Amino acid sequence: MWNFDDPPSPQATNIYGSHPFYLASDKEGSSHGVFLRNSNAMEVILQPTPALTFRAIGGILDFYLFIGPSPMEVVEQYANLIGKPALPPFWSLGYHQCKFGQTTLNQTKKILQQTIDAKIPIDTQWNDLDYMARRNDFTLDTDHFKDLPDFVAKLHENGMHYVTIIDPGVSGGEPVGSYPPYDRGIELDIFMKNSTGQPFVGRVWNPKSTVWPDFLNPKTIQYWSEMIQDFHDLVPIDGAWIDMNEPSNFWSGQFNGCSISERGGHLNHPPYVPRFVKGQSLFFRNICPSAVHYGNYSHYDVHNLFGHSETVVTNAALRNVRPGKRPFIISRSTFPGQGHYGGHWTGDIHSDWDAMRLSIAGVLNFNMFGIPLVGADICGFNGNTTVPLCQRWMELGAFYPFSRNHNTLEAFDQDPVSLGPEVVKAARKALEIRYSLLPYLYTLFVHAHLKGTPVAQPVFFQFPRDKMAYYLGESQFMWGSALMIAPVLEEGPIHVNCYLPQGVWYNWETHVKSDHEEGGAFVKIPAPLDTIPLLARGGSILVLKPPAPTTTDSRRLPFHARAYVSSSGSASGDLFWDDGDALDSYDDGSGGRHNHILFNLTSSRDLQSQVRHRGFLAETMLLDSISIIGLKSRPNQVTLDGRIVDFSYSPQEQLLEVHSLNVDLLQPFRMEL
Ligand code: NOJ
Repeated sequence: MWNFDDPPSPQATNIYGSHPFYLASDKEGSSHGVFLRNSNAMEVILQPTPALTFRAIGGILDFYLFIGPSPMEVVEQYANLIGKPALPPFWSLGYHQCKFGQTTLNQTKKILQQTIDAKIPIDTQWNDLDYMARRNDFTLDTDHFKDLPDFVAKLHENGMHYVTIIDPGVSGGEPVGSYPPYDRGIELDIFMKNSTGQPFVGRVWNPKSTVWPDFLNPKTIQYWSEMIQDFHDLVPIDGAWIDMNEPSNFWSGQFNGCSISERGGHLNHPPYVPRFVKGQSLFFRNICPSAVHYGNYSHYDVHNLFGHSETVVTNAALRNVRPGKRPFIISRSTFPGQGHYGGHWTGDIHSDWDAMRLSIAGVLNFNMFGIPLVGADICGFNGNTTVPLCQRWMELGAFYPFSRNHNTLEAFDQDPVSLGPEVVKAARKALEIRYSLLPYLYTLFVHAHLKGTPVAQPVFFQFPRDKMAYYLGESQFMWGSALMIAPVLEEGPIHVNCYLPQGVWYNWETHVKSDHEEGGAFVKIPAPLDTIPLLARGGSILVLKPPAPTTTDSRRLPFHARAYVSSSGSASGDLFWDDGDALDSYDDGSGGRHNHILFNLTSSRDLQSQVRHRGFLAETMLLDSISIIGLKSRPNQVTLDGRIVDFSYSPQEQLLEVHSLNVDLLQPFRMEL
């Protein structure tokens, strides 16, 4: 673990982030976790005993043990220590699109428009560093992106959002007085220093050289806030995509490397370098370990905290620039506790089937690390994707907690429309399901925020005693306790062999029921090319919205509830709702400006809601319809708060539907069947 600009791969080399934490489960499902709170370079060896050896080359030996005993409790206990996840804005749970190499605003506009025209739900347009002049932060290429302010204003009018990349390093090579991010940084004295006390100079995207703000310096909050404010005055961005923050350096050290004879030089060449560190040197495409941070800390000791500290500072800056609104931050480099300030994407993965499968492991790991807002570049980043791959990947990516299609400048356009009708159809269908599930997904994020509960989970988190659920690895996963996602991860098959643990499961699309009350089993589930198999768990109630072009449109539509009955005929669920963007929805001192509603269906066919908390009254919360799936017989009548209402019942599907309800969810209701 030594943060490094290299994409995740099955090899045990250092990558973007470091998380010295493990979770172990024994055969009975009892679990524990261990966290070594240490930011130095280290290797971890899995011994056959079984045992783990942590070998850190510096810092403190501060170990924490989490005794679970369930895997979920381990993760919640860990989050409780390191900081529970930030609540993302509601809009950020929509679909996002980006591409490196959109060198003009016209290209961005064209791809966005064709996506909207194809009726693919989309909320957020992104731009990579193409929008910058000379690839320098906080500038605008006025030749090719002159109309960006207008474009962003129109996005906002249409209830959409806009995010740009911000690199941590600013140019050190512009003429004095011509580039405020450099001049102001010198004035405030906030750049990371080399061993002679000068700004540490390396090189990233900028034309000549790069210097880095030291995000451990308290003054950097002022600096970073000013920089983001100035840019925001021109282009009102809704969030920050913070890249290259390992921090990546295209040079190994400074222009002349990192010397052993300089002050702190022994740190550049320590007696032991953890095995598998790329280049077998700590400064291979990195900063010299002898570089100095605020408080006289050596980069050697705090390197792994760079992305974390940048996220903390960016969070503070966005709060200054967008008062009262939740900061939206997606960072490449991460460290424990970062989920309290922002989310993550898994970097420059390949456009191939292996990377798509592994992306699920990435998403599940980061949910265990307390960073539930995570996703991979849908359809892959490096190399050209293919139609069959992108079709399945758009389906899977609709179920990443953070859902964004993005790829490299060398590859062709891979937004669904550019790839053709098969990808469009699959993307639209999967994203429409995602958008209908937004209230459920958002509720999961609120639970993550309040308790550290992961949003996307390995199946064994829900079934810790089921060994098969453990061995499923990343081939299937859950959203909370109620929804199983079983993607197709190879080219060709039009079914999945899906493991359904003990209980009753219902196909999301067809309502077909699989009864596994006697124990888990593998089931062949149809997965036509435009379909990702989804299974709802008997015993759950999910609150939904109809799909809509954007999350903003979706919020205006009434709610719908689906109850999936268990073998005993019962079901339960909950819904958190608030304005979706305010900072104080859960912690304003008076319990929070949010609503929390519980739903419970008993085996005697009595469905009741309970308003647990009522703190957000600015929107009406109308429940328009209820479906009950798995109801074995047709009721004689259905009453709502004592009044008889119309209903339909299909015995084949065991489906009861009640429409045009007009229920105010802020009042408790009772439906008897
Ligand atoms: C590296 C990032 O991982 C990638 O997503 C981005 O497109 C490039 N930097 C260019 O900014």
